[in-house]
Amino acid sequence: MELEDIRREYTKGGLRRKDLLADPIAQFDFWLKQAIDAGLTDPTAMTVATVDESGQPFQRIVLLKDVDQNGFIFYTNLGSRKAQQIEANSKVSLHFPWHPLERQVHITGVAEKLSAVENMKYFSSRPKASQLAAIASKQSSRISARGVLEGKFLELKKKFEQGEIPVPSFWGGFRIKPQSIEFWQGGEHRLHDRFLFSKDAEEWHIDRLAP
Ligand SMILES: Cc1cc2nc3c(=O)[nH]c(=O)nc-3n(C[C@H](O)[C@H](O)[C@H](O)COP(=O)(O)O)c2cc1C
Repeated sequence: MELEDIRREYTKGGLRRKDLLADPIAQFDFWLKQAIDAGLTDPTAMTVATVDESGQPFQRIVLLKDVDQNGFIFYTNLGSRKAQQIEANSKVSLHFPWHPLERQVHITGVAEKLSAVENMKYFSSRPKASQLAAIASKQSSRISARGVLEGKFLELKKKFEQGEIPVPSFWGGFRIKPQSIEFWQGGEHRLHDRFLFSKDAEEWHIDRLAP
């Protein structure tokens, strides 16, 4: 099998302007719910793209933990490579690849840190092992061996055997305030449908883009 022979037709029926909701967050919620209901693996997984100081882009997957009119929320280590890049340049892009539904959503926006109260609320809802792992891992730093990480985890497990685990100061969330949201639906003969919502003076404008 040659890679160039791998292709498929997109047959789910496309996306028409009349079927699009006027509010892109409502449209996103609708598609996300369909992705969850369809049983997709990791339906909330999204790629976050950031750039470093030289303009070099980086991408990685994180999990969407909330979305509303204020933006898209994910949690991470605040000393991580992505967090350092966001500190220097808060412009990011998000991408949801929902292949089985022949859909993708592409978002551009600006990241801001969540409040300590928001961080605490989510941190305390996580399983204890995840809380410990978040403390044990100095995300994105170089380590000599896996044993270092496991040793730290066991040490913390012992330390916090009883009682609540405090939210570490180096852990928290980002909210991405969207500037644009594009909905892509595969179409027959590669005639896909693309609708771009762009925010201008707090108003959303819709344009159809060529595929
Ligand atoms: C399915 C999946 C979900 C992930 N979710 C998160 C997440 O919510 N937060 C996070 O910091 N990293 C998450 N990761 C790990 C990131 O992709 C990445 O490796 C890590 O955040 C370090 O990225 P950085 O060094 O660019 O900062 C996830 C990875 C996968 C594959």
